[in-house]
Amino acid sequence: MSDDRFFTGREIAAALTFVVLGTLIGVTSYRAGLNIAGEGAGAVVAASTTPAPPNGQTLYAGNCAGCHGAQAQGGVGPGLAETKGWSLADFGQAVLHGQAPGGRTLAPVMPRFADTGLDGAPPTDDQIKVLHEYLKGL
Ligand code: HEC
Repeated sequence: MSDDRFFTGREIAAALTFVVLGTLIGVTSYRAGLNIAGEGAGAVVAASTTPAPPNGQTLYAGNCAGCHGAQAQGGVGPGLAETKGWSLADFGQAVLHGQAPGGRTLAPVMPRFADTGLDGAPPTDDQIKVLHEYLKGL
């Protein structure tokens, strides 16, 4: 009697087909994954060692907001609204070397970030640029 059999022959055959197909698909995808990893290994290493691009908001909050205010409205240091009109070069001179346009030397309270570093590391051009962009957007 076929009543006491759990599966018919066709069902078993179908199940086997699924297992074989599944294994094939699994192995193929696994290999494809290995290939991708192999070809892109350089990119993967680069991604893990290259620091994230600088973020103006983070840089400002961590290095400037304490003195110039969260919205650059001023505090210990002056509000930076006027600075928005400065060129990137002038802004960089002020932030890195304490030299404002017109030969004005900023009070020593304003850090010379070329010496102190931004977030503990020598400032990069990109950091100055995103800081400038961030301030202009405030
Ligand atoms: C320890 C406090 C302090 C910190 C931190 C600080 N500043 Fe200043 N900053 C000052 C003071 C005080 C002045 C005013 C100096 C003067 O006028 O002689 C100033 C002046 C400036 C000026 C010139 C503004 C003007 O109108 O003359 C700029 C631009 C500036 N700061 C940008 C920054 C940026 C960007 C950061 C963060 C990367 C920063 N400052 C961090 C205190 C600070």
